[in-house]
Amino acid sequence: MATVLNSLQGRDLLSLADITASELALLLDLAAQIKAGKVKPHCPQVLGLIFAKASTRTRVSFSVAMYRLGGQVLDLRPEATQVGRGEPIEDTARVLTRYVDALAIRTFDQQDIITFAQYADIPVINALTDLEHPCQILADLLTVQEIFGQLQGLTLTYLGDGNNVAHSLLLGCALAGVNLRLATPPGYQPLPELVAQAKLLAGDRSTITLTSDPEQAVADAHVLYTDVWASMGQEESAPNRLPIFKPYQINQARLQSAAPEAIVLHCLPAHRQEEITTEVMEGPQSRVWDQAENRLHAQQALLAGILGAKID
Ligand code: CP
Ligand code: NVA
Repeated sequence: MATVLNSLQGRDLLSLADITASELALLLDLAAQIKAGKVKPHCPQVLGLIFAKASTRTRVSFSVAMYRLGGQVLDLRPEATQVGRGEPIEDTARVLTRYVDALAIRTFDQQDIITFAQYADIPVINALTDLEHPCQILADLLTVQEIFGQLQGLTLTYLGDGNNVAHSLLLGCALAGVNLRLATPPGYQPLPELVAQAKLLAGDRSTITLTSDPEQAVADAHVLYTDVWASMGQEESAPNRLPIFKPYQINQARLQSAAPEAIVLHCLPAHRQEEITTEVMEGPQSRVWDQAENRLHAQQALLAGILGAKID
């Protein structure tokens, strides 16, 4: 019996910057092998889910990934536990450490999962915060790699809000050697500290370009990517954002400027006719359903690594 991805065992994933470029490459290869049925890691452990925001893909893909590994999942919904009544994170984390083997947590403030990780002696995985969405980007990079056969040297253009997905894309593309162009309206750029961190990680492996010009950003790109213009928790500002973000929509005209073989990604859920037109989302260059499927394979690989799964 061999363990997979030894170096990840027992580690947290609070940010994509928590893993190295070579660990990312190994994770993506393991995910591809799991998807192809070439390896079947096994870890009969228990993953707790604490989701303070809605989720379809992340909740279900983590659950099914765990079942496929021979483990189990406990959905610790905040409203059904003392978490929702304000029991301190420090206390919850220390108690849950005694019951479950790892936690996947979706919450608003990144500091909450940092506190969880400080007080829990088990791995903590970021299942989305306002700051980052690292597990999403594992699936995105897996999707790009399986379509183009490589990551290094490709150009990915993200159009829209400089949000959690944009932040993790910055870090993930830097680690993978993907050139990233981020086109956001002025005032909606990613946080400067995340940009600086990504530039450090990228070194001379890839470039990071921030612009407010969507047309310039898409020229000859291999991947066009977008996300909602108002994230969970920002619903009130959604009407004000519509006219500001309208020029950043991925539509057929914009897609014409990308490379002929370009693919279109969206983390989902999508607001059709806002950040992406129905025509593009349902069109031949869209890979959004493969991307959603890859959440399962990427997270199975991640859990196998973090939980020290064995391969027979
Ligand atoms: N993309 C994503 O994380 O989807 P959910 O919010 O449905 O989990
Ligand atoms: N930026 C979005 C991603 C949803 C998966 C949000 O945080 O709502």
